[in-house]
Amino acid sequence: MNKQLQLDELKAKILSANICPELAAQATQLVLGDGNPNADIVFIGEAPGKNEDEQGLPFVGAAGKFLNEMLAAANLNRSDVYITNIVKYRPPNNRDPLPEEKKAFWPYLLKQLQIIQPKVVITLGRHSMEYFLPDMRISMIHGQPKRIQFGDDKLVIIPLYHPAAALYNGGMRSTLMEDFLNVPEILKKL
Ligand code: URA
Repeated sequence: MNKQLQLDELKAKILSANICPELAAQATQLVLGDGNPNADIVFIGEAPGKNEDEQGLPFVGAAGKFLNEMLAAANLNRSDVYITNIVKYRPPNNRDPLPEEKKAFWPYLLKQLQIIQPKVVITLGRHSMEYFLPDMRISMIHGQPKRIQFGDDKLVIIPLYHPAAALYNGGMRSTLMEDFLNVPEILKKL
């Protein structure tokens, strides 16, 4: 079965399993992901915000605009990569996702990665990083590829700052852009 069909099935599974019913009740829709299911690179953010909730697509608001800018600077566009979040429903008032919400969606994120089989996973911000690289601090390891065991396979994680955190912080913005521009080089070396 092709990967897009498998992702569609996964979405149906999440809906029928009634994951995080309180979040689901307040959200417009579940936001599974966007981009190319055959991509080598998967980006994982935190959770949908207002625009994402309305449009049903991840990273389409201000943070998404910056993500698109960084992709363009690295000669990539959204159809070359796959973009998702750890939590698939918008938390009310854009609050941080709760530990139990991240835990509830984690197995589905793993299934998503098993379907896509990317070479590299880029975590955006600490919420998605902490599950792959527990006990690490993003300020110490941002931009550095880390090899982890993932089921029977090895997976490379590149932890980056979250584009929303970098939007209004000039220093973090240039650090994030610098880290981002190293990604194609890291990919080449794998
Ligand atoms: N921030 C995220 O982490 N994810 C989105 O989809 C949008 C903003």
